Amino acid sequence: MSLFWRIFAMNASLLVIAALLLLSPWITVSSPVLLKEAVVVAVGVLAMLLANALVLHRALAPLQRLSHRMAQADLSAPGIRAEAAGPAEMVQLVRTFNTMLDRLENERATSSARVAAAQEAERQHLARELHDEVGQALTAVLLQLKWLADQAPTRLRKDLRGAQETTRESLDELRRIARRLRPGVLEDLGLASALRALAADFARVGFTVVHHLDHKLPTLPQEVELAIYRVAQEALSNAARHASAARVDLELRHTSSEAVELVIRDDGRGCHSASEGSGIRGMRERALLIGARLSIEATSRGGTSVQLWVPVPGKAE
Ligand SMILES: Nc1ncnc2c1ncn2[C@@H]1O[C@H](COP(=O)(O)OP(=O)(O)O)[C@@H](O)[C@H]1O
Ligand SMILES: [Mg+2]
Repeated sequence: MSLFWRIFAMNASLLVIAALLLLSPWITVSSPVLLKEAVVVAVGVLAMLLANALVLHRALAPLQRLSHRMAQADLSAPGIRAEAAGPAEMVQLVRTFNTMLDRLENERATSSARVAAAQEAERQHLARELHDEVGQALTAVLLQLKWLADQAPTRLRKDLRGAQETTRESLDELRRIARRLRPGVLEDLGLASALRALAADFARVGFTVVHHLDHKLPTLPQEVELAIYRVAQEALSNAARHASAARVDLELRHTSSEAVELVIRDDGRGCHSASEGSGIRGMRERALLIGARLSIEATSRGGTSVQLWVPVPGKAE
């Protein structure tokens, strides 16, 4: 029955019962009213109000459930839908709401995929520019310095060798930056090697990175490997920037035939910031894109643990 008819039927029956009682020989109202009659009428009105409140509460409960669901709706945790039950209008409302959520989640997934693709393309472009333009120029400077150092009088030679060394270090740094922008090793050597190289890069920052990478990982699609790599990269750079950690554990395990799990655990001061920055949001977006679950929790020792649970598509190796 529709909400309108439910409420109407309930009110109509209460009014009809009250009218019948007033017409019946048991209830009379004299003029002026006697105390006993006033009490009977008051009790009657009270009973009607109570019945009204009870029925309205029950009839409107689905609306409250829906509003609760609406308040909880979170596009970064998709797939949760309100249950369509109750009066016809409510079922209709819940269905409309669920369809709206479907559309919003789809649109969000498409736009985040587009943003991630654009970001990757931009990074590749930057990495190429750095490698091909700046890298080549620095290499030329390095060769010139070497030639100069060989030709120069002895008193200048030491300084020139120093300049050569600085240029070589800059070139190494440039290669590291380019690798971070475009993890070429990911395609050439696979995820485990790329993560090992990443761990080695971060180990220079001042904390120890201990990695435990399963030897036998299932074959993952390229975009899944890239997402895992980027999440590890952001988690490690957060540990370097915010945690004041002494040790970071980086794990990639093939936990079951259906899942691979990435864990980055630091022993730093913990992630207490209420607001998520673009880094953590980016990790969530990437997790969503590949259907993975991301959780960021405090460890028992007060540090931060970032876990990414990635479903393995199809049959694992
Ligand atoms: N491993 C961590 N240890 C301590 N604090 C962290 C850690 N990771 C993140 N945070 C906190 O969470 C905030 C948001 O992180 P993030 O979204 O990556 O943004 P950003 O790194 O640009 O500040 C950080 O500013 C920091 O306060
Ligand atoms: Mg960050």
